Amino acid sequence: MKTQVAIIGAGPAGLMLGHLLRAEGIDCIVIERASGDYILGRIRAGVLERVTTDLMDRLDLGARMHKEGLPHDGFNLADGERLIRIDIAALTGKQVMVYGQTEITRDLMDAAPSRGLEVIYDADDVALHDIEGDAPFVTFTKDGKEQRIDARFICGCDGFHGPSRQAIPASVGKPFELVYPFGWLGILADVPPCNHELIYANHDRGFALASMRSPTRSRYYIDVPVTEKVEDWSDDRIWDELATRLGPDAAAHMTRGPSIEKSIAPLRSFVFEPMQHGSLFLAGDAAHIVPPTGAKGLNLAASDVTYLSDALIGYFKRNDRDGVAGYSTKALARVWKSERFSWSLTKLMHRFPNDGPFERRVQVAELAYIASSEAAQISIAENYVGLPL
Ligand code: APR
Ligand code: PHB
Repeated sequence: MKTQVAIIGAGPAGLMLGHLLRAEGIDCIVIERASGDYILGRIRAGVLERVTTDLMDRLDLGARMHKEGLPHDGFNLADGERLIRIDIAALTGKQVMVYGQTEITRDLMDAAPSRGLEVIYDADDVALHDIEGDAPFVTFTKDGKEQRIDARFICGCDGFHGPSRQAIPASVGKPFELVYPFGWLGILADVPPCNHELIYANHDRGFALASMRSPTRSRYYIDVPVTEKVEDWSDDRIWDELATRLGPDAAAHMTRGPSIEKSIAPLRSFVFEPMQHGSLFLAGDAAHIVPPTGAKGLNLAASDVTYLSDALIGYFKRNDRDGVAGYSTKALARVWKSERFSWSLTKLMHRFPNDGPFERRVQVAELAYIASSEAAQISIAENYVGLPL
C-alpha cells in the first residue's frame, strides 16, 4: 500500500490528525494495534479546552459534544476549610467543556468511514523503517499476513508505550521525566455529581477530585500510594475516603452508588525532545505525558495535531517545507507550558510523602494567596482554559 502520511495509533491524537488531513484531501492511513472496542473501553479525563472544541467544530464533528457536553464557567480548589472558586468565565471570558475524552474518540471513530479515513485495527508488530530518508515505510501483520505501507511521512500517535518514539536514535532524542510517588484511584458511578463544578481538594489525608460526565454520571478520584492494589479498595472504602477528603459540604451532597469502573493510574510528567526526526513526527502521549491534574493530556494532543496538520497541509499543498521543519519547536513551546501548569497544580494539591512541615506551610500560603489575589486566579484560570495556540 502507498499513502502520503502513515499515522500510527488510533487514539484521539491519531484520529484527529487523520480527519484534519482527510478534510484537505491528503491521503493517510491510520494503523492501530488494538480493536476499536478496546480503545473505547479506556476511561480518560473529561475537561476540554477551546483548542479541542474548536478542532472538533472545524471538522464538523462537534454536534454531540455541544448537545451532551457541559460548559463550565469555573472550578474549585478545596483546602480543607473553604472552597476557592476560580471563576474562569469572568477572569478569561472563556469556558471549558466537560465531555468525556472517550466520547471524543467515539465521535472521531464513528465518522471515519464517511470521511474516507481508513483505519486498520488489530495490526500486530507495527515497525517503522527508513525514517531518516524521504521514503519511510511501516510494516505490520494483519490476520497473519505481513503488510507494508510506503509514505512520505510517518506520524507517531501511538501513546507512551508505542514504537514511534523508540525509533528515534538515543543520540538524537532526550527524555525529561518526573515520576510521582502516588497514583490516582478513579471511580465512575451512575450518580449525580456532588457539585455542579469540579472540586480539586488538598486534605490532610491526601488529594481528591470530584468530577462528572453528565448530570447523572460522576467521576471521582483520590490519590493512593503507587503500591496500592485496586482490589483492596471496595466501593464503600472509596466513598468514605472521598467524603472525608472533599469536606463536609461536598460529602453532604455526595450520592453513593456502585462503581461501573475502578482503576489506578500512575502519575508522570514526561517530555521527549525533539518531537520529530527525519520523516517521523511525534504527537500526543507518544511525545509527552502530563499528570492528570488539570486534564491537559488530550488538549495537548489537540494542539500538537493542529500544528502538525497545518505543517503537513503546507507541505503537500504549497510545497512549504518550513512548516514541517519547525513543527517540534512550535509544539514544544506549548507542551512545556502545559507541563509546568500540570506539575504545579499537582504540587499544590497533593501531599508528597517526602515533604515536611516547610513544604506544607508553602502549600497553605499558596492556597491563601490564590484565595486573596485576582492576579493569581487569572493565572490559574488562563492556564486551565488553555493557553492560545
Ligand atoms: N502499534 C499500533 N498502535 C499502537 C501501538 C503499536 N505498537 N502501541 C500503541 N498503539 C496505539 C494504542 O493502542 C492507542 O490506541 O496508539 C494509541 C495511542 O492512543 P493514546 O494512548 O490515547 O494517546 P493519544 O492519542 O496521544 O492521546 C492523547 O488523550 O485520551 C487522552 O489521556 C489521553 O493523554 C491522552 C491523550
Ligand atoms: C475527569 O473528569 O476524569 C477529570 C477531570 C479533571 C481532571 C482530571 C480528570 O483534572
